[in-house]
Amino acid sequence: MTESETQTTRSEAETGAVGRDVAKTLGSGSVVLLSGDLGVGKTAFVRGMAEGLGIDPADVSSPTFTLVQEYRGGRLPLYHVDLYRLKSIEVPDLGLDEITLAGGVTAIEWPDRLPRPFAGAITVRIEHVDASTRTISIE
Ligand SMILES: Nc1ncnc2c1ncn2[C@@H]1O[C@H](COP(=O)(O)OP(=O)(O)OP(=O)(O)O)[C@@H](O)[C@H]1O
Ligand SMILES: [Mg+2]
Repeated sequence: MTESETQTTRSEAETGAVGRDVAKTLGSGSVVLLSGDLGVGKTAFVRGMAEGLGIDPADVSSPTFTLVQEYRGGRLPLYHVDLYRLKSIEVPDLGLDEITLAGGVTAIEWPDRLPRPFAGAITVRIEHVDASTRTISIE
């Protein structure tokens, strides 16, 4: 049975706080898949995850052309992956298996581009309600 919970946030900071609280519970090798439309708040959630790991959240940007960014200096390294521009056929070349086995926490935006699911990954789905409201379901 999978556990699932849904929360509503009313600002970018509130979404970050959800990511921060999730990150505090994560151990080495955790993978978080972040689904949701363009501009819904996936990167905002990852910024909160950085904070929860003790990394400066201001370091986390939207990696437009960088596919994988690594942030250190926290309890665990954070790998931030954005697959938006990729086709699933290109993803195996990224070395995602090595990254997720490297002992950090991996957050992946646009996981629908993955050629196969990640066993044991945490799925975070963010949905747009209105300009400042989102629902976040985590399972
Ligand atoms: N409740 C909310 N939670 C998160 N972001 C919100 C919320 N309300 C408004 N926003 C705004 O939505 C935008 C979210 O941007 P963000 O870059 O995090 O989205 P994204 O899902 O990573 O987009 P992309 O698909 O382009 O990577 C920001 O401009 C933020 O201020
Ligand atoms: Mg993003």
